[in-house]
Amino acid sequence: MHEPKTYFIRTYGCQMNELDTEIMAGGLQKKGLTPAADEESADLLIFNTCSIRDLAERKVMGKLGRMGRAHKRHQIIGVTGCMAMAKKESLFRKFPHLDFVIGTNNITDLGPVLDEVLYTNKQIVKTDDRFEENLDYLVAQRDNKIKAFVSIIRGCDKFCTYCVVPYTRGSEVSRPPASIVEECQKLVDAGYKEITLLGQNVNSYGKDQPEWNCLFHDLLYQLDKIPGMERIRFMTSHPIDITRELMEAIRDLPSLCEFVHFPIQAGSSRILKKMHRIYTKEQYLEKVDMLRAIVPDVSLGTDIIVGFPTETEAEFQETCDVLKQIRYSLAFIFAYSPRKGTPAMRWKDDIPEEVKLDRLQRLTAIQDEISNEERARMLGNTYEVLVERFNKDGKMLKGRTRCWKKVIFEGEESLIGSVQKIKVHSFSHETLIGERVGKRQQLLTLSNSI
Ligand code: 5AD
Ligand code: SF4
Repeated sequence: MHEPKTYFIRTYGCQMNELDTEIMAGGLQKKGLTPAADEESADLLIFNTCSIRDLAERKVMGKLGRMGRAHKRHQIIGVTGCMAMAKKESLFRKFPHLDFVIGTNNITDLGPVLDEVLYTNKQIVKTDDRFEENLDYLVAQRDNKIKAFVSIIRGCDKFCTYCVVPYTRGSEVSRPPASIVEECQKLVDAGYKEITLLGQNVNSYGKDQPEWNCLFHDLLYQLDKIPGMERIRFMTSHPIDITRELMEAIRDLPSLCEFVHFPIQAGSSRILKKMHRIYTKEQYLEKVDMLRAIVPDVSLGTDIIVGFPTETEAEFQETCDVLKQIRYSLAFIFAYSPRKGTPAMRWKDDIPEEVKLDRLQRLTAIQDEISNEERARMLGNTYEVLVERFNKDGKMLKGRTRCWKKVIFEGEESLIGSVQKIKVHSFSHETLIGERVGKRQQLLTLSNSI
C-alpha cells in the first residue's frame, strides 16, 4: 500500500457528522493530502457514518459490501462516525477489505491511524468511549464561506429508550467557552455571517463543568458580544433543558435567531414515558406557552417518531392533535426503527411497517397543510434574508429568514453574504419567492456590537 495523496469523505447523517468531516478534511490537508473529485479516484476513502435509523446503516453496509467485491487494493478505506462505534471491529469480519475503523471520540487520531495502517498493513480500530477535549477545531475545512457549524458539546446523557446516540457518542462533554469564543471570533473575522452551535443537546452545555460557571445562555451572551456577529442558531435541544433564561436570551440578543428546534417526539404522555423523554405532554405544552409568551414571533421545529412499540391509533391521534395545536414551522417525522443496544429493543416492534408508513403519511399531510398556511400568511410581508448563494436554477439568489424559511429572489452575485430585505409575493412548495426592497438598516449591526 502506498502513501495516499488524495482523499474523499462521504458523509451520512447529522450536522455533527458534517462538521466532523470538515475537521477530518482539515487534518488530512494539513498532512499534505488533497481532495479527490470522487470516491473512485481517491487514494483514501472514508465513510463518516450514521446509526440513528436502520436505513442509514443499510446504505453504508450495502456500499461496503459492493466495494469489497470490486475492491482495488491501492485504495485505503476507513469507516468513522456512529456505525464505527456501534459495530467496532465486527466490521472487519464482514468487510475484510476495510483498513480502519475510527469512532466518534477519536477523529483526532485519524493521522496516526493512517500511518499505522501504512506501516503495519494491519486493520486498525480506535473507538474510545469518552471524548477527550483535544480536538483541533480550527483546522476544519469548510466549503461554505457564509455559514459555519461550531461544536459546543458532544455526547448525550439523556438515554431516550429508542436512541443509539448515548452509546455511539458517549456521555456529555462540554467544550471550554474560551475555545468556542476563539473559534467564533475567527469565523466572524473571516467573513462568516451565521454560526450554528452544535450538540446532541446544546441546552445541557456547561452542566458537566459547574466550575466554569457558564451555562448555555451564558455562552450565548458571550458570543453575541463578538463584534460583527450577524446570526447565531443552535441545534438540537431537549425540551426539559430549555430554560426561561434561554428564552429571554432569544428575546434579548440581536444575533440569536428566533427559531427553536423543540422536539416533542410523541403527543401521548404514556408513549413519552415509555420513550423516557422525562416530560409529559402537558409539561411540554406549558414550556411552549412560556416561550411564545416571551418571544411571540418565535418559530418552532420538531422531531416526531411514529409507530413506537405499543402506540395505539388513539395515541397517534394525540400526536396529530399536538401538531395542529402547536403549529410547528418544520417537522421531521420518522417511523420507529429498533436499534441494537437500546432499551426499546427489548420490546416487540409490534406496529406493522404499513401502519407506521400510514401514520407517517397522515402526519406529513397535516404538517404540509400547516406549513402551507404559514407561508400563505407570509405573503406581502418583508423579511431579513441572509443571502447564501445562487439557487439551483443558477438565476435567482437564495437565502434564509431568521426563522429558517428559504427565500429566493432576483439579484446580483455581489449580494451574497449580505442581509437584504425581501418582500415575499408568492411561494412554490417550500420556497418563498420575493423581491428586494432594500438592504437591512445598519442600525441592527450597530446594536450588535454595543
Ligand atoms: N427510530 C426512529 N427515529 C429515531 N430518532 C432517533 N432514534 C430513532 C429511532 N430508533 C429520531 C428522533 C430524533 C431524530 C434525530 O431522529 O426523532 O430526534
Ligand atoms: Fe437521542 Fe434522546 Fe439524546 Fe436526543 S436527547 S440524542 S433523542 S438520547
